[in-house]
Amino acid sequence: MESGYTVEQLRVAATDAVRAPSLHNIQPWRFRLRDGGIEVLVDAARRLPATDPSGWGARVACGAALFNLRLALAVAGAPATVRLRPYPSQPDVVARLTPDLPRRPTPAEQILYAAIPRRFSNRAPFWPDPVPADARWRLGEAARAEFCWLELLIGISAVNAFAEIAHGAHRVLERDPAYRAEREAWVRAAHAPDGVPAAAGGPHAEPQDLLPSRSFGGRPRSPGRDFEPEPLVAVLGSAGNTAVDQVVAGQALQRVLLTATDAGLSASMLSQPVEVPSAREQLRMSLGRFGTPQMVLRIGYGQPGRPTPRRRLDEVLDLPVHQG
Ligand SMILES: Cc1cc2nc3c(=O)[nH]c(=O)nc-3n(C[C@H](O)[C@H](O)[C@H](O)COP(=O)(O)O)c2cc1C
Repeated sequence: MESGYTVEQLRVAATDAVRAPSLHNIQPWRFRLRDGGIEVLVDAARRLPATDPSGWGARVACGAALFNLRLALAVAGAPATVRLRPYPSQPDVVARLTPDLPRRPTPAEQILYAAIPRRFSNRAPFWPDPVPADARWRLGEAARAEFCWLELLIGISAVNAFAEIAHGAHRVLERDPAYRAEREAWVRAAHAPDGVPAAAGGPHAEPQDLLPSRSFGGRPRSPGRDFEPEPLVAVLGSAGNTAVDQVVAGQALQRVLLTATDAGLSASMLSQPVEVPSAREQLRMSLGRFGTPQMVLRIGYGQPGRPTPRRRLDEVLDLPVHQG
């Protein structure tokens, strides 16, 4: 189809899409070309039944990958019109992108696109320097631009109250042997194409830590390398909690993360209080917000680090047989 996207455009854009974050770096996405449109699918073969029984995490990750796809196509001068969950009978198809009128990329698209390869989850302690007001404002704007909200917890008592909810959720999850087994199974050697490399897993948790961290086989902490005493904690939320809302939240998550990267900030994610329904409700009520918390971020100034590996492109692309 002449007016549609090509296999080459799909390949280029998918290279950026796969840089998105996902639970345990499971990379639960596939991309295909159908009738000139690029489609993003949840990969049914890549599930975390104990950690993500509802598929929330997979849809958030696919939403984040979709945001990168949108940026890549826009920067290539071929921006997309996006339909979320376009086929009611095929819930695995998260989005369909078709070409919009060609135009030049906006400066904002170029800036966010340039941040894609630099973004990574930084689970190490951050410097104690506060995040300036203008950067905080930009992060909130990033969420709002994607139809979500970002609530920054102000003051140590708000962070303490959040920490209590998060530790409670962490304990609930850790009591489940199937959940623990999944987490341990996705800790990887440095060169594996998926999973969390032990070197990226952050340091061992210590009893004095304010926030609970998932254990990905990190190194014991050297003395004096405690976490920042007053972390900037941000809760990302969406208007509702349908499958579409979760894909929307994934796009907002990626926009917030890329905005943080562009501002020289690091971020890590902690989703335990979102994964345990009672904790999620407690969190929502503590914020006094309508809608649904979809992710919690710790944001600050971190040490440089490295992006984690991804699978080869041919493992995530479904190409029509008649097209190369
Ligand atoms: C839905 C979702 C939930 C996540 N939850 C956590 C979490 O609780 N703790 C954590 O350390 N990282 C969490 N992450 C981050 C992933 O582990 C990370 O994105 C993945 O390992 C790939 O690494 P990268 O972000 O450096 O590219 C989450 C990511 C997503 C998309």
